[in-house]
Amino acid sequence: MTKPAFTDEPIDAADVPKGSRGPRTKAAPVIAVDGPAASGKGTIAQALAKHFDLPHMDTGMLYRAVALNLWRWGGDPAHEFEALKACDVAAVDPNDPELRSEVVGGIASRVSAYPAVRAALLERQREFEAQPGGAVLDGRDIGTVIVPDADAKLFVTASVEVRAERRLEELKARGMKVHLDDVLIDIRARDERDAEREFAPLARARDADLLDTSAMSVDEAIAAAIALVEKRLA
Ligand code: CDP
Repeated sequence: MTKPAFTDEPIDAADVPKGSRGPRTKAAPVIAVDGPAASGKGTIAQALAKHFDLPHMDTGMLYRAVALNLWRWGGDPAHEFEALKACDVAAVDPNDPELRSEVVGGIASRVSAYPAVRAALLERQREFEAQPGGAVLDGRDIGTVIVPDADAKLFVTASVEVRAERRLEELKARGMKVHLDDVLIDIRARDERDAEREFAPLARARDADLLDTSAMSVDEAIAAAIALVEKRLA
C-alpha cells in the first residue's frame, strides 16, 4: 500500500483579509477541514458540526453545483468563460442526486481550477464562515485560502487505494455499477488536478493537524478528529 496522500509538503496559509466577523470566541469557533477525494473529510466535518453544535458547509457542493449547471446546459468545461456562466448556483436543488455523481465530480474538479470560478464562489463561503455562531467548512482550500485564521484546521487524508475502496462502496450503495480500477484512475486524476492547479491547490496548511484515516474505522476517525480539535480549542 502507498503512503497517505499529500503528507509531505505543507504550505503557509494565505495572508488574506479577514471576513466581517468580529473576534471569535471559543464557544463559536471556525473549524477548517480539508483533504482529497474520499478521504472522509465530509463525514468528519459533519460529525464535528454535530459535536460542537456548529453550522456546516460542504464547499465541494458549490463546485459540484457549478459543474451540474454547466453539464445540464451542455457547456464546455474547457472554457473558463462558459464555466463562469454556470456559477449562479442559487437554483440548483441541493438534494439533486446527480450532484454526487462521478461525472459531476470530475467536471467540478476541472472548473474549480479557474480563478474566475473560485472568485465567484468566494463570497458565499466567507459569509458562511463569518457567522457569529462559528462554523465548520470542508473542502480543499479552507485552511489555506478561505479561512486562513481558522481556530482549528484538519487535513484529512488516506492512501489512494483506501480512498478508492471507500468511493467504490459509496457508489455501489447508490446502486451504481462501477469497477475499482476505474474509480482508482478517477481519484488519481482528481488528486493530480486538484494539487497541480495554480490557484488554491489542494495542500495542507502548515498549521493544520494531519489526520491519516487509512487504517481507521469511521468512528475512530471521528473520535480522533474531535480530540485534535478539542486540543486546538483548549
Ligand atoms: O467528495 P469529493 O471529495 O469527491 O469531492 P468534493 O469535495 O465534493 O469536491 C468536488 C471537486 O470540487 C474537487 O475535486 C475539487 O476540485 C473541487 N473543490 C475545490 O476546488 N475547492 C473546494 N473547497 C472544494 C471542492
